[in-house]
Amino acid sequence: MASEESVGTGGRSTEPVGTWFDPEDYGGLDDTAPSATVIVDLLRDMVAPASVVDVGCGPGVFAAEWIRRGVHDVVGMDGAPVAGVYRAPASTFRVVDLSEPVDEGRRFDLATCLEVAEHLPPESEGTLVASLVDLAPVVAFSAAPPGQGGHGHVNERWPAHWANLFAAHGYHQVDVVRGLLVDREDVAWYYRTNLVVFADADHVGRILDWADAAAVPDPHQLAFQRGIRSGLVERGWRELVGAVVRKARRRVGTTRAGGAIRRLRPDSSR
Ligand SMILES: C[S@@+](CC[C@H](N)C(=O)[O-])C[C@H]1O[C@@H](n2cnc3c(N)ncnc32)[C@H](O)[C@@H]1O
Repeated sequence: MASEESVGTGGRSTEPVGTWFDPEDYGGLDDTAPSATVIVDLLRDMVAPASVVDVGCGPGVFAAEWIRRGVHDVVGMDGAPVAGVYRAPASTFRVVDLSEPVDEGRRFDLATCLEVAEHLPPESEGTLVASLVDLAPVVAFSAAPPGQGGHGHVNERWPAHWANLFAAHGYHQVDVVRGLLVDREDVAWYYRTNLVVFADADHVGRILDWADAAAVPDPHQLAFQRGIRSGLVERGWRELVGAVVRKARRRVGTTRAGGAIRRLRPDSSR
C-alpha cells in the first residue's frame, strides 16, 4: 500500500488507502489535452519511440495522444479507481501500485512519469525510479519542486534529488525540454517548469545531438536575456547616448541648457 492516509476527512474510516487518485480528484487535470499535444509532439521528435509507457497516467490523456499520433504500442499505468476515467482504450490500462516494483515483463522505448513522484511517500521514491529505469532507457519525468503545492503532494523535491536517484542507475539528466516550452502558453505551467529527460548511457548522446541540432535554449538564460540584458543590448548607440543625456539633464534638474544657466544665475530670468 502506498500510504497510510485515512479515507475521507472526518475520521469516517481508518481504512488505509493508496496515494492514487479517485475519479473525482481529477477535476481540471482533464484539461491536459493541449499540453499532451505539444509534449507528445516534442518527445516523438526527440526519441521517435515505437512504444511508450505512461506511469501514473491519470485519465490517459497522454496515452490517447500517443495513439492519435500513430504510436499504438502504448500502456498507461495507474491505480485501480483511475480505470473509471481512463480515456484511451481500456486494453492499454494496467493497474499498479507504484509504491511496489512494477513488473510489466517487457521494456518500452520511452517511459513518461508526469507529476506523479511527489504523490508517493519518500520511502517509495527509490522504488518508483527503479521501476522507471526497468521500463525504458529514456524517461520523461516531471515532479513538483518544494513549494509547488497540490492535492496529495507528500514528497516535493528539487530536480537534483531525482537526478541523484536516476544517476545511481547510470541515467543522466538532460534539461532539453523546458527551454522549448518557455513560450508555450498552451502547455500547463507545471510541465513547463518541471519536465526533464533522463537517459541511459546508450541514449543520452543521441538526445544531446538532437537538442544541439534543434538549438534548444536554456530556460534560465532566456529569462535573463529577455528580462534584463536584451533591452540594453538590442538598443542602438544613438538611443543609449540619448538616454544617458536625458538622465544627466534630470540630475541637473532641467531639460534645457537655458534652465541650467538659470539654476546657476537665478536672477537672470527676471
Ligand atoms: C497529478 S496526477 C498526474 C496524472 C498524469 N500523469 C498527468 O500528468 O496528467 C498523479 C497521478 O499519480 C497517480 N498515483 C499516485 N500514487 C500512485 C500509486 N501509488 N500507484 C499508482 N498511481 C499513483 C494518481 O492516481 C494520479 O493519476
